[in-house]
Amino acid sequence: MSTTILGPSRVGESSSQPRATDVVLTGDRPTGSLHLGHYAGSLRSRLALQGHCAQTLLIADLQALTDSSGRAADVARHVMEVALDYLAIGIDPAQTTIAVQSRLSALAELTVLYLNLVTVSRLERNPTVKAEVELRGFERDIPAGFLCYPVSQAADISGFRATLVPVGDDQLPMIEQTNEIVRRVNRLAGASVLPECRALLSSTPRLPGVDGRKASKSLGNAIPLSATADEIRRLVRAMYTDPGHVRASAPGRVEGNVVFAYLDAFDRDLTTVTELKERYRGGGLGDVALKRRLEGVLEALVAPIRARRAELARDHAYVMEVLRAGNERANVITEAVLRDVRGAFALEGFAA
Ligand code: TRP
Repeated sequence: MSTTILGPSRVGESSSQPRATDVVLTGDRPTGSLHLGHYAGSLRSRLALQGHCAQTLLIADLQALTDSSGRAADVARHVMEVALDYLAIGIDPAQTTIAVQSRLSALAELTVLYLNLVTVSRLERNPTVKAEVELRGFERDIPAGFLCYPVSQAADISGFRATLVPVGDDQLPMIEQTNEIVRRVNRLAGASVLPECRALLSSTPRLPGVDGRKASKSLGNAIPLSATADEIRRLVRAMYTDPGHVRASAPGRVEGNVVFAYLDAFDRDLTTVTELKERYRGGGLGDVALKRRLEGVLEALVAPIRARRAELARDHAYVMEVLRAGNERANVITEAVLRDVRGAFALEGFAA
């Protein structure tokens, strides 16, 4: 595939360009509807890969339960929201398989087998898990399922023999742990039964929330993909700019300015964005005018997604059928992988 389809990926040995032979897998925890950060970070890459590579999107409800078991009904409800978001942005179920993690029992069995290949101290050292444990204030009361979710994620990825995983850079430790497990399985099997995978990082840096902090649902600082025009307006108006930029005529800072972070991610008119930055830096461009431009850009992006989503939301049966068919296809693939991995653990001899 040419680089023009996806744009340049950020340099780094862990990220690389897609190839037509790649098998792509990504997942999302169903913790609510997806937001513009997801769109810039990974959904856009998935759309670009669609039709070029075999691709599966996994709605990772079991992973969501690892820190939300008390909110199980919400997780179940959000599976549907994520499916609607996928379809609304243009994921085509005829080209991309959408599957639900909890419906693929081979993944659960792979997880149980892989747990024997990983130490507790290795899991505790995983930087993403460490950061999340801190964020959630688990301290010593970490659910065992949460500590082990990188193993379950290794099952997700290897269960599809995925070679390319479009993710944000916070997921790089997961890719590394997956490859460690894959190498151990192959060593046990004495053959290469599973491929190693690479991350596909977005060319857009991580989008901040409107207040400049990390975008998060609980902080209410992310712009949902299904946002109404009013919500977009409200959230853009609330965006953190440069606190020192008190008058339109005063010079302002572009770095750390959330409006520019969003323009960089979504405004396709790069020349204008460059000009706006110059005018802002030099003084003479007010926050109100700047925000009005961003509002227009975001509304143009979100309006068709919102319309399609509303239409799909009325057709529950269609969405359920997409998931049923996706699960069926995914079960065929993951069951075959499980047979190979059971073989590596010498478990194939006891036919039912
Ligand atoms: N950990 C990912 C997240 O928090 C979700 C996820 C689950 C995933 N399984 C995956 C991502 C497999 C990539 C591949 O968003």
